[in-house]
Amino acid sequence: MAVLVTGGTGFIGSHTVAELLSAGREAIVIDNLSNSKECVLDRIERITGKRPAFRKVDLLDPEGLERVFAEFPQIDSVIHFAGLKAVGESVSKPLLYYENNIFGTVNLCKAMEKAGVKRIVFSSSATVYGKPDSVPIREDFPLRATNPYGETKLVIERILSDIAAADPEWSVSVLRYFNPIGAHESGLIGEDPKGIPNNLLPYIMKVAGGKLPCLSVFGSDYHTHDGTGVRDYIHVVDLAKAHLCALDRAAAVKGTEVFNLGTGKGYSVLDIVAAYEKATGLKIPYRITDRRPGDIDECYADPAKARELLGWSAQYGIDRMCEDSARWQRMNPDGYGD
Ligand code: NAD
Ligand code: UD1
Repeated sequence: MAVLVTGGTGFIGSHTVAELLSAGREAIVIDNLSNSKECVLDRIERITGKRPAFRKVDLLDPEGLERVFAEFPQIDSVIHFAGLKAVGESVSKPLLYYENNIFGTVNLCKAMEKAGVKRIVFSSSATVYGKPDSVPIREDFPLRATNPYGETKLVIERILSDIAAADPEWSVSVLRYFNPIGAHESGLIGEDPKGIPNNLLPYIMKVAGGKLPCLSVFGSDYHTHDGTGVRDYIHVVDLAKAHLCALDRAAAVKGTEVFNLGTGKGYSVLDIVAAYEKATGLKIPYRITDRRPGDIDECYADPAKARELLGWSAQYGIDRMCEDSARWQRMNPDGYGD
């Protein structure tokens, strides 16, 4: 039996494929390489001693998807990472996001249905909670997207739960990630954003590597312990491991289940700067600037449901997240390069 991993050469996908192979499971990877590189597979092979089968397939190509299921009849479940994820870009190019993320998922589900594969684990995001009324955030909090990217996550969650409601043979596991950072301890795989990063840790890493002069801290007047925004940062390897637990659960339980994946602890921007400085011995120059439009004061998970039903909880703290991110950055100053 094998797992089809869409977006398996991306940041979270590559770490999950490494965990799957290390656990002795077979993984088949598809990706259109729009935001990742094929050489990731070499790195996964160096880590695990195994190379997953890879097919360069776009989710917008229904025949390509069908061919993959026909070629690998051992596929019995899917972990669906593939999608576009930049909030700002989704605001300027909404159609691109609606088409890629939503149509892509519909094509995937149709191909799954045709192949008789009815088990899916989906990458959703804490962004579906919008500006929460309180923290920590539970899975039953109200959902409200504040940008087209978040809207695609909400629509896909809905599509998947409708499919499972219509056919009781389906198992849908919706995983709402908080803020994934860190990298594999080998330093061989990690996050490799294109251009100037939008997210905090990738930006700090560019400053640490001398590629950008100074971090802009977006606002210091939030209602938090030091005035800067608080988030629930989670190590990508912890996150990857949760997918194996979700697969096991989906094999045993039909219908739709939703899980927050976070540590349950919130850290501010300045906490993260301090942790990165401690991990590296480097000074991260920063200046306080205006708030970034759309940002919220604080966002962290109540991870109790995942602990109780998946038997999963995060193991790594922010020191380790920063150490592993820094190692990846030192060993790969240009990411995966050209
Ligand atoms: P990523 O960009 O590194 O990986 C996504 C992969 O999907 C890329 O390799 C890209 O080439 C591929 N892809 C995109 N569109 C495709 C298509 N039409 N066909 C085939 N492949 C396609 O992103 P990531 O950080 O690994 O995120 C994985 C998933 O988790 C995404 O769905 C993202 O929205 C979600 N998520 C990420 C975060 C985060 O902070 N990284 C937080 C919450 C949710
Ligand atoms: C971002 C996404 C969100 C996604 C989440 C997890 C945006 C607007 N939102 O949220 O949809 O679910 O990532 O991947 O992109 N910060 C700085 N300076 C920077 C960058 C960030 O001060 O250069 C601050 C932000 O104001 C925030 C914190 O750092 O307080 C984290 O920011 P970021 O890494 O972008 O994540 P989120 O805003 O949580």
